[in-house]
Amino acid sequence: MPGIDIAVLQKTIEEEIIKINSSQELEAFRLKYLGRKGVIAGLTAAIPTLAKEERATFGQQANAMKNRLLELIAEKEKSFSGQPAATQNQAIDIGMPGIAQQIGRVHPITQVVEEICTIFTRMGFSIVEGPEIETEYNNFTGLNIALEHPSRDAFDTFYLKPQEKGLLLRSHTSPVQIRVMKSCEPPLAVVVPGRVYRPDATDASHLFMFHQIEGFMVDAGIRFSDLKGILETFAKAVFGDDIKMRFRPHFFPFTEPSAEMDISCIICKGKGCSVCGRKGWLEILGSGMIHPNVFEHVGYDSKKYTGFAFGMGIERIAMLKYGITDIRMFCENDLRFLNQF
Ligand code: DAH
Repeated sequence: MPGIDIAVLQKTIEEEIIKINSSQELEAFRLKYLGRKGVIAGLTAAIPTLAKEERATFGQQANAMKNRLLELIAEKEKSFSGQPAATQNQAIDIGMPGIAQQIGRVHPITQVVEEICTIFTRMGFSIVEGPEIETEYNNFTGLNIALEHPSRDAFDTFYLKPQEKGLLLRSHTSPVQIRVMKSCEPPLAVVVPGRVYRPDATDASHLFMFHQIEGFMVDAGIRFSDLKGILETFAKAVFGDDIKMRFRPHFFPFTEPSAEMDISCIICKGKGCSVCGRKGWLEILGSGMIHPNVFEHVGYDSKKYTGFAFGMGIERIAMLKYGITDIRMFCENDLRFLNQF
């Protein structure tokens, strides 16, 4: 090519490559000579402008130079690979601070379920789970809930189609009592954590799906005082030793007698505040002695055995324990909320 002395170019290349000290410089060098718009591409593109008799020799020289360049670059690369990365001045700097990974955590509802289950397993209870799709029989009939009871209404329970199958989304964890008692003989002490469903409109204190823990104990000679002792140990373990408790008579179809248990308000210590509605007490669970009709349904001899049962809402316990004022926070997946637990 007129004006280009291949020998001079060759010399320049050899001199330039000696001075190269980093992969970045080497890449710039490669682009300069072998890139799409590089020197070699320029030489090749100029071939058609040469006199016919010069073209072949020039083409061979350009090709030889390209091969020499590839050799030189490969050698240089090899000379870098033995060196520590830092001295190669590469894009990866292993001395840079790392990228911190976010550590996940257990959801507050799961934490409270685990805490409560641990308290009961230490007192000898087993943990049993049941299905969220239940039979009408286990959810109501077996638990002595009369056909005309309002909780059976479609406004209060999610029934599954076709209705003749008698299936529903369980509205409480109590049906697991029927499952366990039908398959095991006393003595037994069981806690049942799980999800339950009710067609309630969502607001600050209602969700259509929430969590409960059911507990029950059956043997010859189980008394109401056993229930009180167990629940006192539980409530003090969760809310602290200085709380007071009281039982208020109540009605549940599956227990007789039945009672709701209150603890002294953990915010005002019983003086009366907005959390406890100025009453000084917070309702935390329902309980009672298992109704003889329930024992009949599962085939237990109600003359031989007695037992107690209780059931509580986990979201409610968690809200009281942590001072949470809106139940919807548990399912919004807002990390500002979740990261606090
Ligand atoms: N199943 C009841 C509910 O969902 C809670 C409950 C009350 C369970 C009293 C019990 C009990 O075992 O004895 O409201």
